[in-house]
Amino acid sequence: MGTVETAKGEETAAGEGGKRDALTIKDERTGRVYEVPIVHGTVRATDLRQIKTGPEDFGLMTYDPAFLNTASCTSRITYIDGEKGILRYRGYPIEVLAEKCNYMEVAYLLLYGELPNKKQYDDWCHAITYHTMIHESLKKVMDAFNYDAHPMGMLIATVAAMSTFYPEAREVHDRAVRTKQIHRLIAKMPTVAAFAYKHSMGMPYMYPSNDLDYTANFLTMLFKTPAENYKPNPTLVRALDVLFILHADHEQNCGTNAMRGIGSAHTDPYSAVAGAAAALYGPLHGGANEEVLKMLEGIGSKDRVPAFIKEVKEGKGEKRLMGFGHRVYKNFDPRAKIIKRMAEEVFEVTGRNPLLDIALELERIALQDEYFVKRKLYPNVDFYSGLIYEAIGIPTAAFTVLFAIPRTSGWLAQWEELLEDPEEKIARPRQVYLGEGERPFPPMEKR
Ligand code: CMC
Repeated sequence: MGTVETAKGEETAAGEGGKRDALTIKDERTGRVYEVPIVHGTVRATDLRQIKTGPEDFGLMTYDPAFLNTASCTSRITYIDGEKGILRYRGYPIEVLAEKCNYMEVAYLLLYGELPNKKQYDDWCHAITYHTMIHESLKKVMDAFNYDAHPMGMLIATVAAMSTFYPEAREVHDRAVRTKQIHRLIAKMPTVAAFAYKHSMGMPYMYPSNDLDYTANFLTMLFKTPAENYKPNPTLVRALDVLFILHADHEQNCGTNAMRGIGSAHTDPYSAVAGAAAALYGPLHGGANEEVLKMLEGIGSKDRVPAFIKEVKEGKGEKRLMGFGHRVYKNFDPRAKIIKRMAEEVFEVTGRNPLLDIALELERIALQDEYFVKRKLYPNVDFYSGLIYEAIGIPTAAFTVLFAIPRTSGWLAQWEELLEDPEEKIARPRQVYLGEGERPFPPMEKR
């Protein structure tokens, strides 16, 4: 499970027959017995500090590199059951949201906990629409990048630079100031992403249009040129909007953990989002969508799939089937199922992407192969999303940027929750030191 679900806000009650929600631990070093409470299916790591061999002992710690079994916070935003393949935002199944909502409603839901009514929705869309422009000097910052700069590198640096334009953003304990930065960040991410694309193409930037909705505006900034008008295809707008919904939040993943970690130092949200986006950039995380496309192109044809699978298996973890596997999902990623269905709709408009056949063959073989079955490796969100991005006309290098745009609402919802959490403190893990003890300093001639 990704999340331990309990009754809302309640601590688990004492069971029947004198059973208690507690863990009894015997320290074989001292013979002493301790009892620590179990709340929400967890024990507090700090409760273990009382377990000592003597007064000089620091106390017992837990060792959990990569947070394989550690809850770093409580949260009420996103629920995942990785064994069953369930994903919900604020209690609503992802399948329902993807079918009935647009991304703007979902971003509001993540941030405020409830779906907006008509007035709230209109006010929200207005606030976002009227913050889409970026400062002209920020545009000049973007101009300074080399023509072949990676779009994620440009996005990360430009979002970090944004903090210098809004110094009040440092007032992270002022809710009204926070709300303003949330509007700005959600609004400006597509603009920065589109400008990064235009810059890489050597084309003039296209300014946002207030008469278009969030996703249509983004596509227009990407593909309109001064020479001709551009009207985005409604099927493609809807497909991209659904992709935005699916990518908006995913509880404590690597990028969100970075957002919370940086946010816990009370850093401004622009710098924190830049840090979260840097984590997302990695090929094991959001960068996987770009890697999937490169992998499919590298395989080249359906008949070469078995040989590729063999290489992955023989590589023993060195070479991976990108877009497969997940830390939390040990079943189908529910987002991948929706994306696979949507790919067919998109291809009806754009024509079938020939790489789809390679992807389908990879999935077919992998899902029957003992190596993948035994390790519960299924297609994840990144396996099919790149094929849709490519069909829409987005270059491979910009795929992760399309992940970062909607994930911004999730990062900001998690950041808000962190700052409102009474247990919030600067994130500062412990370590197990295995290095040298104190030793004499050798002068240069004796080294
Ligand atoms: N291809 C081949 N083998 C794999 C793969 C894969 N994609 N993923 C995991 N394994 C193997 C791995 O070698 C290990 O085998 P063994 O037990 O023999 O050592 C076993 O499965 C468990 O893997 P792990 O690395 O311990 O699992 P993890 O939970 O640390 O990693 C993951 C999760 C997503 C990083 C990993 O599955 C992976 O690298 N997948 C490919 C990259 C990818 O698609 N990432 C996108 C994730 S979803 C979106 C997002 O997070 O942004």
